[in-house]
Amino acid sequence: MTVSTVEKVVLSASEEDSTLTDRNTHATRVAGKGSDPEKKALFASVTKRVDYSPKFGTELHGLQLTQLTEQQAEELAAFISERGVVFFRNQDDLDDEEHVKLGRRWGPLHIHPLVPHNNKNPEVIVLDSRLSPPGRYNTNNSWHSDVSFEPAPSSYSILQFEEIPEAGGDTVWSNGYQVYDSLSEPVKALLEGLTATHTSDLFRVFQANTGRKTFGKLNDAVHPVVRTNPVTGWKAVFVNSVFTREINDVSPVESKWILDYLNDLVAKRLDFQVRFHWEKNSVAIWDNRSTFHTGVPDFAPYFRRGRRVTVSGEIPFFEQGSGTQAKAFEATAQAIVAKQEAAAKVKEETEAATAAKSA
Ligand SMILES: [Fe+2]
Repeated sequence: MTVSTVEKVVLSASEEDSTLTDRNTHATRVAGKGSDPEKKALFASVTKRVDYSPKFGTELHGLQLTQLTEQQAEELAAFISERGVVFFRNQDDLDDEEHVKLGRRWGPLHIHPLVPHNNKNPEVIVLDSRLSPPGRYNTNNSWHSDVSFEPAPSSYSILQFEEIPEAGGDTVWSNGYQVYDSLSEPVKALLEGLTATHTSDLFRVFQANTGRKTFGKLNDAVHPVVRTNPVTGWKAVFVNSVFTREINDVSPVESKWILDYLNDLVAKRLDFQVRFHWEKNSVAIWDNRSTFHTGVPDFAPYFRRGRRVTVSGEIPFFEQGSGTQAKAFEATAQAIVAKQEAAAKVKEETEAATAAKSA
Protein backbone atom coordinates (compact mmCIF):
# COMPACT_ATOMS: atom_id res chain seq x y z
CA MET A 1 0.00 0.00 0.00
CA THR A 2 0.98 3.62 -0.39
CA VAL A 3 2.64 4.72 2.80
CA SER A 4 1.93 8.30 3.77
CA THR A 5 5.13 9.29 5.46
CA VAL A 6 5.51 12.39 7.58
CA GLU A 7 7.53 14.07 4.76
CA LYS A 8 4.48 13.94 2.51
CA VAL A 9 2.18 15.67 4.98
CA VAL A 10 1.21 19.28 4.26
CA LEU A 11 0.82 21.16 7.54
CA SER A 12 0.25 24.71 6.43
CA ALA A 13 -1.17 26.24 3.26
CA SER A 14 1.12 27.77 0.69
CA GLU A 15 -0.07 30.60 -1.57
CA GLU A 16 -1.36 28.20 -4.20
CA ASP A 17 -3.35 25.94 -1.88
CA SER A 18 -4.91 28.66 0.28
CA THR A 19 -8.13 28.31 -1.72
CA LEU A 20 -8.38 24.52 -1.65
CA THR A 21 -11.59 24.55 0.39
CA ASP A 22 -13.30 26.51 -2.41
CA ARG A 23 -13.79 23.09 -3.95
CA ASN A 24 -16.02 22.02 -1.04
CA THR A 25 -19.60 21.49 -2.04
CA HIS A 26 -22.65 19.53 -0.91
CA ALA A 27 -23.99 16.20 -2.05
CA THR A 28 -26.64 16.36 -4.75
CA ARG A 29 -27.90 12.83 -4.20
CA VAL A 30 -28.38 10.73 -1.09
CA ALA A 31 -26.17 7.64 -1.34
CA GLY A 32 -27.88 4.49 -0.12
CA LYS A 33 -31.39 5.91 -0.24
CA GLY A 34 -33.83 3.58 -1.95
CA SER A 35 -31.42 0.61 -2.01
CA ASP A 36 -32.64 -2.92 -1.18
CA PRO A 37 -33.79 -2.83 2.49
CA GLU A 38 -32.59 -6.43 2.92
CA LYS A 39 -29.18 -5.61 1.45
CA LYS A 40 -28.93 -8.98 -0.24
CA ALA A 41 -26.05 -7.99 -2.55
CA LEU A 42 -23.97 -6.74 0.39
CA PHE A 43 -24.67 -9.69 2.67
CA ALA A 44 -23.92 -12.19 -0.11
CA SER A 45 -20.25 -11.30 0.55
CA VAL A 46 -20.42 -11.00 4.36
CA THR A 47 -19.04 -14.03 6.19
CA LYS A 48 -19.66 -12.81 9.73
CA ARG A 49 -21.67 -9.99 11.32
CA VAL A 50 -21.10 -8.87 14.90
CA ASP A 51 -23.49 -6.26 16.27
CA TYR A 52 -21.82 -4.28 19.07
CA SER A 53 -25.21 -3.42 20.58
CA PRO A 54 -28.75 -4.21 19.36
CA LYS A 55 -29.19 -0.71 17.88
CA PHE A 56 -25.70 0.58 17.23
CA GLY A 57 -22.38 -0.42 15.66
CA THR A 58 -21.56 -3.55 13.64
CA GLU A 59 -18.36 -5.29 12.60
CA LEU A 60 -18.53 -6.95 9.19
CA HIS A 61 -16.16 -9.67 7.99
CA GLY A 62 -15.70 -10.96 4.45
CA LEU A 63 -15.83 -7.61 2.66
CA GLN A 64 -12.89 -5.92 0.93
CA LEU A 65 -13.81 -2.26 0.62
CA THR A 66 -11.82 -1.96 -2.61
CA GLN A 67 -13.92 -4.68 -4.26
CA LEU A 68 -17.49 -3.52 -3.66
CA THR A 69 -19.88 -3.55 -6.58
CA GLU A 70 -21.96 -0.44 -7.15
CA GLN A 71 -24.98 -2.09 -5.59
CA GLN A 72 -22.96 -3.24 -2.57
CA ALA A 73 -21.57 0.28 -2.07
CA GLU A 74 -25.11 1.71 -2.06
CA GLU A 75 -26.38 -0.93 0.36
CA LEU A 76 -23.35 -0.39 2.59
CA ALA A 77 -24.09 3.35 2.79
CA ALA A 78 -27.65 2.55 3.89
CA PHE A 79 -26.39 -0.05 6.38
CA ILE A 80 -23.95 2.47 7.92
CA SER A 81 -26.76 5.02 8.28
CA GLU A 82 -28.90 2.42 10.06
CA ARG A 83 -26.17 1.03 12.32
CA GLY A 84 -24.41 4.40 12.84
CA VAL A 85 -20.90 3.00 12.57
CA VAL A 86 -19.51 -0.08 10.83
CA PHE A 87 -16.09 -1.67 11.38
CA PHE A 88 -13.85 -3.68 9.06
CA ARG A 89 -10.58 -5.51 9.71
CA ASN A 90 -7.53 -6.09 7.48
CA GLN A 91 -8.32 -3.60 4.74
CA ASP A 92 -4.66 -3.74 3.70
CA ASP A 93 -5.24 -2.70 0.09
CA LEU A 94 -7.13 0.50 0.92
CA ASP A 95 -4.36 2.89 -0.16
CA ASP A 96 -4.85 6.65 -0.66
CA GLU A 97 -6.31 6.28 -4.15
CA GLU A 98 -8.73 3.51 -3.15
CA HIS A 99 -9.69 5.47 -0.03
CA VAL A 100 -10.59 8.49 -2.18
CA LYS A 101 -12.38 6.27 -4.71
CA LEU A 102 -14.53 4.69 -2.01
CA GLY A 103 -15.51 8.08 -0.57
CA ARG A 104 -16.41 9.49 -3.98
CA ARG A 105 -18.94 6.70 -4.50
CA TRP A 106 -21.06 8.38 -1.81
CA GLY A 107 -20.56 12.07 -2.53
CA PRO A 108 -18.10 14.93 -3.04
CA LEU A 109 -15.09 14.80 -0.73
CA HIS A 110 -14.45 17.47 1.88
CA ILE A 111 -11.15 19.35 2.04
CA HIS A 112 -10.42 20.27 5.63
CA PRO A 113 -9.43 23.90 6.26
CA LEU A 114 -6.78 23.12 8.84
CA VAL A 115 -6.04 19.46 9.55
CA PRO A 116 -2.86 18.40 7.67
CA HIS A 117 -3.36 16.43 4.49
CA ASN A 118 -1.49 14.24 2.11
CA ASN A 119 0.32 16.31 -0.54
CA LYS A 120 -1.04 14.23 -3.41
CA ASN A 121 -4.65 14.11 -2.27
CA PRO A 122 -5.79 17.11 -0.21
CA GLU A 123 -8.99 15.12 0.44
CA VAL A 124 -6.98 12.63 2.53
CA ILE A 125 -6.37 14.13 5.96
CA VAL A 126 -3.56 12.75 8.05
CA LEU A 127 -4.22 12.07 11.72
CA ASP A 128 -0.74 11.69 13.12
CA SER A 129 -0.37 12.00 16.88
CA ARG A 130 3.23 13.17 16.37
CA LEU A 131 1.84 16.24 14.57
CA SER A 132 -0.93 17.05 17.05
CA PRO A 133 0.52 17.16 20.54
CA PRO A 134 -2.20 16.61 23.14
CA GLY A 135 -3.61 19.79 24.59
CA ARG A 136 -2.88 21.92 21.54
CA TYR A 137 -5.26 21.13 18.75
CA ASN A 138 -7.31 18.06 18.92
CA THR A 139 -10.82 16.82 18.53
CA ASN A 140 -9.47 13.41 19.51
CA ASN A 141 -10.60 13.63 23.07
CA SER A 142 -13.92 15.36 22.89
CA TRP A 143 -17.27 14.38 21.45
CA HIS A 144 -18.08 15.72 18.02
CA SER A 145 -19.52 15.08 14.60
CA ASP A 146 -16.93 15.68 11.88
CA VAL A 147 -16.86 19.17 10.34
CA SER A 148 -20.30 20.19 11.66
CA PHE A 149 -19.12 23.83 11.24
CA GLU A 150 -19.59 23.48 7.48
CA PRO A 151 -22.81 24.56 5.75
CA ALA A 152 -22.92 21.02 4.29
CA PRO A 153 -21.32 18.86 7.00
CA SER A 154 -20.15 15.32 6.46
CA SER A 155 -22.37 12.39 5.64
CA TYR A 156 -19.75 9.65 6.06
CA SER A 157 -16.20 9.57 7.43
CA ILE A 158 -13.91 6.72 6.42
CA LEU A 159 -11.01 6.29 8.85
CA GLN A 160 -8.12 3.86 8.69
CA PHE A 161 -5.14 3.58 11.02
CA GLU A 162 -1.95 2.30 9.47
CA GLU A 163 0.10 2.71 12.64
CA ILE A 164 -1.58 1.88 15.93
CA PRO A 165 -0.33 2.29 19.47
CA GLU A 166 0.71 -0.89 21.26
CA ALA A 167 -1.93 -0.10 23.87
CA GLY A 168 -4.85 2.28 24.01
CA GLY A 169 -6.16 4.60 21.32
CA ASP A 170 -9.69 3.21 21.04
CA THR A 171 -12.45 5.33 19.54
CA VAL A 172 -15.93 5.61 21.06
CA TRP A 173 -19.12 6.46 19.17
CA SER A 174 -22.46 7.64 20.57
CA ASN A 175 -25.79 7.20 18.83
CA GLY A 176 -27.64 10.45 18.07
CA TYR A 177 -30.85 8.55 17.25
CA GLN A 178 -30.92 7.13 20.78
CA VAL A 179 -30.14 10.54 22.27
CA TYR A 180 -33.25 11.88 20.52
CA ASP A 181 -35.38 8.86 21.40
CA SER A 182 -34.50 9.20 25.10
CA LEU A 183 -36.11 12.64 25.38
CA SER A 184 -39.64 13.26 26.68
CA GLU A 185 -42.26 14.42 24.18
CA PRO A 186 -42.34 18.08 25.43
CA VAL A 187 -38.53 18.36 25.21
CA LYS A 188 -38.52 16.76 21.74
CA ALA A 189 -41.10 19.36 20.65
CA LEU A 190 -39.02 22.20 22.11
CA LEU A 191 -35.80 21.06 20.40
CA GLU A 192 -37.46 20.40 17.06
CA GLY A 193 -38.20 24.12 16.77
CA LEU A 194 -34.62 25.23 17.45
CA THR A 195 -31.42 25.79 15.49
CA ALA A 196 -27.83 25.93 16.72
CA THR A 197 -24.73 27.76 15.55
CA HIS A 198 -21.69 25.58 14.82
CA THR A 199 -18.33 27.35 14.42
CA SER A 200 -14.68 26.93 13.48
CA ASP A 201 -13.62 28.82 16.64
CA LEU A 202 -11.40 25.93 17.74
CA PHE A 203 -9.40 26.21 14.52
CA ARG A 204 -9.24 30.01 14.78
CA VAL A 205 -7.60 29.69 18.18
CA PHE A 206 -5.22 27.03 16.88
CA GLN A 207 -4.36 29.15 13.86
CA ALA A 208 -3.66 32.17 16.07
CA ASN A 209 -1.46 30.09 18.37
CA THR A 210 0.56 28.32 15.69
CA GLY A 211 0.58 30.71 12.74
CA ARG A 212 -0.41 27.87 10.43
CA LYS A 213 -2.17 29.07 7.30
CA THR A 214 -5.53 27.53 6.48
CA PHE A 215 -6.31 25.77 3.22
CA GLY A 216 -9.24 28.13 2.72
CA LYS A 217 -12.15 29.64 4.59
CA LEU A 218 -13.04 28.71 8.16
CA ASN A 219 -16.81 28.42 8.07
CA ASP A 220 -19.59 28.75 10.62
CA ALA A 221 -23.09 27.40 10.03
CA VAL A 222 -26.58 27.25 11.50
CA HIS A 223 -28.16 23.79 11.66
CA PRO A 224 -31.37 22.32 13.10
CA VAL A 225 -30.93 20.89 16.62
CA VAL A 226 -32.90 17.81 15.57
CA ARG A 227 -31.94 16.53 12.16
CA THR A 228 -33.60 14.04 9.83
CA ASN A 229 -31.21 11.45 8.41
CA PRO A 230 -32.18 11.39 4.72
CA VAL A 231 -31.24 7.70 4.31
CA THR A 232 -33.13 6.18 7.24
CA GLY A 233 -35.67 8.99 7.68
CA TRP A 234 -34.97 8.87 11.45
CA LYS A 235 -34.55 11.87 13.76
CA ALA A 236 -31.29 12.47 15.63
CA VAL A 237 -29.94 15.17 17.91
CA PHE A 238 -27.32 17.20 16.04
CA VAL A 239 -25.29 19.37 18.42
CA ASN A 240 -21.85 18.58 19.79
CA SER A 241 -19.44 19.77 22.44
CA VAL A 242 -16.62 20.75 20.06
CA PHE A 243 -18.23 22.82 17.30
CA THR A 244 -21.67 23.91 18.59
CA ARG A 245 -21.33 27.36 20.17
CA GLU A 246 -24.93 28.16 21.03
CA ILE A 247 -28.61 27.42 20.62
CA ASN A 248 -30.22 30.30 18.75
CA ASP A 249 -33.22 32.41 19.86
CA VAL A 250 -32.97 31.46 23.53
CA SER A 251 -31.13 33.19 26.39
CA PRO A 252 -27.44 32.37 26.97
CA VAL A 253 -28.35 30.54 30.19
CA GLU A 254 -31.00 28.47 28.39
CA SER A 255 -28.57 27.74 25.54
CA LYS A 256 -26.00 26.46 28.00
CA TRP A 257 -28.63 24.41 29.83
CA ILE A 258 -29.80 22.72 26.62
CA LEU A 259 -26.29 22.08 25.28
CA ASP A 260 -25.01 20.77 28.62
CA TYR A 261 -27.94 18.38 28.90
CA LEU A 262 -27.61 17.01 25.35
CA ASN A 263 -23.81 16.80 25.46
CA ASP A 264 -24.08 14.95 28.78
CA LEU A 265 -26.39 12.36 27.23
CA VAL A 266 -23.88 11.85 24.41
CA ALA A 267 -20.90 11.50 26.73
CA LYS A 268 -22.40 9.67 29.71
CA ARG A 269 -25.05 7.27 28.45
CA LEU A 270 -23.05 4.07 28.05
CA ASP A 271 -26.10 2.36 26.55
CA PHE A 272 -25.92 4.74 23.58
CA GLN A 273 -22.23 3.99 22.94
CA VAL A 274 -19.92 1.48 21.32
CA ARG A 275 -16.14 1.34 21.60
CA PHE A 276 -13.76 0.08 18.91
CA HIS A 277 -10.26 -1.29 19.43
CA TRP A 278 -8.16 -0.66 16.33
CA GLU A 279 -5.81 -3.10 14.68
CA LYS A 280 -3.42 -2.17 11.90
CA ASN A 281 -5.50 -1.46 8.75
CA SER A 282 -8.83 -1.61 10.54
CA VAL A 283 -11.35 0.75 8.99
CA ALA A 284 -14.33 2.45 10.62
CA ILE A 285 -17.01 4.20 8.58
CA TRP A 286 -19.68 6.22 10.34
CA ASP A 287 -22.61 8.48 9.56
CA ASN A 288 -21.83 11.93 10.97
CA ARG A 289 -25.45 13.02 10.55
CA SER A 290 -26.60 10.87 13.44
CA THR A 291 -23.56 9.85 15.50
CA PHE A 292 -20.86 11.48 17.63
CA HIS A 293 -17.39 10.16 18.35
CA THR A 294 -14.32 10.81 20.43
CA GLY A 295 -10.84 9.38 20.57
CA VAL A 296 -9.61 8.08 23.91
CA PRO A 297 -6.37 9.98 24.63
CA ASP A 298 -4.78 7.20 26.66
CA PHE A 299 -2.03 5.90 24.38
CA ALA A 300 1.06 8.00 25.25
CA PRO A 301 3.96 7.25 25.02
CA TYR A 302 2.87 5.38 21.88
CA PHE A 303 1.90 7.10 18.63
CA ARG A 304 -0.58 6.46 15.91
CA ARG A 305 -1.05 7.55 12.33
CA GLY A 306 -4.16 7.24 10.24
CA ARG A 307 -5.93 8.72 7.26
CA ARG A 308 -9.46 9.96 6.91
CA VAL A 309 -11.59 10.72 3.90
CA THR A 310 -14.64 12.82 4.71
CA VAL A 311 -17.66 12.75 2.40
CA SER A 312 -19.76 15.92 2.24
CA GLY A 313 -23.46 15.43 2.77
CA GLU A 314 -26.57 17.47 2.15
CA ILE A 315 -27.51 20.76 3.82
CA PRO A 316 -28.98 19.50 7.15
CA PHE A 317 -32.75 19.62 7.45
CA PHE A 318 -35.51 18.63 9.83
CA GLU A 319 -38.74 17.12 8.55
CA GLN A 320 -41.69 17.08 10.92
CA GLY A 321 -43.04 13.71 9.82
CA SER A 322 -39.72 11.85 10.16
CA GLY A 323 -39.56 8.45 11.80
CA THR A 324 -37.38 7.32 14.67
CA GLN A 325 -34.96 4.49 15.26
CA ALA A 326 -37.00 3.54 18.34
CA LYS A 327 -40.09 2.96 16.20
CA ALA A 328 -38.18 1.13 13.47
CA PHE A 329 -36.50 -1.05 16.11
CA GLU A 330 -39.86 -2.36 17.37
CA ALA A 331 -40.12 -4.62 14.31
CA THR A 332 -36.48 -5.73 14.71
CA ALA A 333 -37.08 -6.53 18.39
CA GLN A 334 -40.21 -8.53 17.54
CA ALA A 335 -38.27 -10.52 14.94
CA ILE A 336 -35.53 -11.26 17.52
CA VAL A 337 -38.11 -12.41 20.09
CA ALA A 338 -39.89 -14.59 17.49
CA LYS A 339 -36.55 -16.20 16.56
CA GLN A 340 -35.73 -16.86 20.22
CA GLU A 341 -39.18 -18.36 20.81
CA ALA A 342 -38.90 -20.58 17.75
CA ALA A 343 -35.48 -21.82 18.92
CA ALA A 344 -36.86 -22.50 22.42
CA LYS A 345 -39.78 -24.45 20.92
CA VAL A 346 -37.45 -26.60 18.80
CA LYS A 347 -35.30 -27.29 21.89
CA GLU A 348 -38.37 -28.22 23.95
CA GLU A 349 -39.69 -30.55 21.25
CA THR A 350 -36.30 -32.22 20.82
CA GLU A 351 -36.04 -32.75 24.59
CA ALA A 352 -39.59 -34.13 24.72
CA ALA A 353 -38.85 -36.52 21.85
CA THR A 354 -35.63 -37.70 23.55
CA ALA A 355 -37.49 -38.19 26.86
CA ALA A 356 -40.29 -40.15 25.11
CA LYS A 357 -37.71 -42.38 23.43
CA SER A 358 -35.90 -43.23 26.65
CA ALA A 359 -39.16 -43.74 28.61
FE1 LIG B 1 -13.59 13.21 14.26
